[in-house]
Amino acid sequence: MNAINSIKKRYDELVSLIEKYNYNYYNLNKPLVDDADYDALMLELLDIERKYPSLKTEDSPSQKVGGEITNTFTEVKHSPPMLSLDNIFSEGDLYDFDRRCKKGLGENDDILYSMELKFDGLAVAVLFENGRYIQGSTRGNGIAGEDISANIATLRSMPMSLSGDSVPTHLTLRGEVFMRHGEFDRLNKMREENEESPFANPRNAAAGSLRQLDPKVTEERALDIVIYQVGSMESNLSISNNQDMLNYLKKLGLPVPEYIDFGSLEDIKEFYQYWMENRHILDYDIDGVVIKVNDLMSRDILGMTSKAPRWATAWKFPAKEAITTLRSVDFQVGRTGVVTPVANLDPINIGGVLVKRASLHNLNEIKRLGIMIGDSIKVKRAGDVIPKLVDVITEKRPESVYSIVIPKKCPSCGSLLRREEVYIRCLNPECESKRMETLKYFISKEAMDIEYMGPELIVRLRRAGKLNSISDIFKITKEDLLQLDRMGDKLADKIIESIDSRRSIPLSRFLRSLGIRNVGDHIAKIIARSVTSLENLYNMQIEDLKEIYEVGSEVAESVYSFFHNSETKAIIDEMKNAGVTIENEVYKNEGKDNIIEKIFVFTGALQNFSRKEAEDMVERYGGKVSSSVSKKTDYLVAGFSGGAKLEKAGKLGVNIISEDEFLTMIGKAK
Ligand code: IVH
Repeated sequence: MNAINSIKKRYDELVSLIEKYNYNYYNLNKPLVDDADYDALMLELLDIERKYPSLKTEDSPSQKVGGEITNTFTEVKHSPPMLSLDNIFSEGDLYDFDRRCKKGLGENDDILYSMELKFDGLAVAVLFENGRYIQGSTRGNGIAGEDISANIATLRSMPMSLSGDSVPTHLTLRGEVFMRHGEFDRLNKMREENEESPFANPRNAAAGSLRQLDPKVTEERALDIVIYQVGSMESNLSISNNQDMLNYLKKLGLPVPEYIDFGSLEDIKEFYQYWMENRHILDYDIDGVVIKVNDLMSRDILGMTSKAPRWATAWKFPAKEAITTLRSVDFQVGRTGVVTPVANLDPINIGGVLVKRASLHNLNEIKRLGIMIGDSIKVKRAGDVIPKLVDVITEKRPESVYSIVIPKKCPSCGSLLRREEVYIRCLNPECESKRMETLKYFISKEAMDIEYMGPELIVRLRRAGKLNSISDIFKITKEDLLQLDRMGDKLADKIIESIDSRRSIPLSRFLRSLGIRNVGDHIAKIIARSVTSLENLYNMQIEDLKEIYEVGSEVAESVYSFFHNSETKAIIDEMKNAGVTIENEVYKNEGKDNIIEKIFVFTGALQNFSRKEAEDMVERYGGKVSSSVSKKTDYLVAGFSGGAKLEKAGKLGVNIISEDEFLTMIGKAK
């Protein structure tokens, strides 16, 4: 085959692959590949088309915006067409985009851009006539979509009439419908209970919920909408930039993006970086940021290609999901005895991290996904937590796959496992894995946080016979350490120092380090603050524990039985003998008059500390933190572009303070 023939062959292959993926993504709401792979295929196609224009056909996927219209709903023509966005992938691409804009505008001065989040939902168009909601539709192929007016009307954040005194006579809007994480979890749980297959991600759930013939179903599943663009507008107002436009839309009562910013190239980079690192603070998915020329006249000058505007581009975050093959499943025994399935994968790079293993959580997950060894699976990496297996691509199932065998006996100690709903548990208190995991947890960051000890050192010390229980950690000597392989004098000193630094430990941290069932960071703090000393805790009955605010009977029972177990008492006594002192909780004395008993809510991103740090400070000084604004809220601390909470606080007359004012209140003003 000559060169051009082989290129043509590859080109045809790409076209049919992309069409297949498009069909599955847009029409069936069932993506077969992750975005990064899709983008790579599209780039390869565009590259061939650029080099060999004769190969390009009129109906090439590069010429189409998205999926085809399906016939369940009536067709709506989009005027103007609903365009897509071009993508950039690097700072270099950003500079190229900026250069192209400057060239198009014949300008050398810095361009002011507006920056928004790229919502990972479904694009929709909405029409208002004389301030009244008339119609809502899907994007379809960009030229025409489906009429989903009734469904859009059920969205709680979608106004049915516009407010204010300069309502346009005709207004078409573009926005995104999406599902928040809480609602996604609730919906999937419900589907699981009804033995329906759960949605793979909030985007699919939003798509499935929006394209329901019965609008009642859409209404039951709380979807949200955000309006980020005007399609066309007839009004006697003249608005010259995006900033004013969004403010105007907001005044009309429309839900506009809560986090936006304006600036030039450096600010764009900062915005991108910030949201890439902090997107977990949002309760919805975003997959990048969108950069738009702020000035509307400049947008007109730049115009558009058949596919996308020249004045805007999307800068996506590196993929957090990827598709790979499941090779085997291990069963690991945790410190509480729960045996968790862990997937071993063909190693794959997800957003710069090589992933080899993924969590399967529990047995239901295996059943729910219908997963088999040899399957193609979708793996997701979120924050620092271990990657999670989220879906099985059954279309790609090879001929030889094997079922996953659920063990009947503990893989560590061989004792019979007990089935507890979705979990299997090893009940043997002597089980080696349980003991090892208890030790590893005790020294970890979440627990005692012994800086120079890690899980590997724990394994080595236990194998050397130095660690029978957690109290032995405080009996480790430098000589013990120096007997281990690969242990130098300096490192041994550091380890001893870090153990010593924890010999005096606040009660709350001590409680959470013990690994008591149902007692995490939050509950440990509440209990510690209420009982103030370990001695008091020993003397408490279940009923006394239940009196503590936020402590229910499950927690009360596990705390009670933990402290009324002879082994626990012996271990704690041993620790005390080894020089550990448990500091009584002194939070009450640290209380600041202006903070004590006051209820704080935070919104937006803070500049000086993380949300968690700020909340910890409020609690340390005797205040309370709540996640939502109500009449009881005393202060709403508004960080960088807070959204709906601000509005609610405004309506309820809650005191809204800036981050600087908050710093002053807690005595940390700069
Ligand atoms: S503006 C004419 N802004 O991303 C430009 N789009 O990959 C219209 N999207 O089709 C799009 N967040 O569905 C714009 N803040 C945002 C967005 C956004 C998400 C979606 C939209 C678009 C797709 C392109």
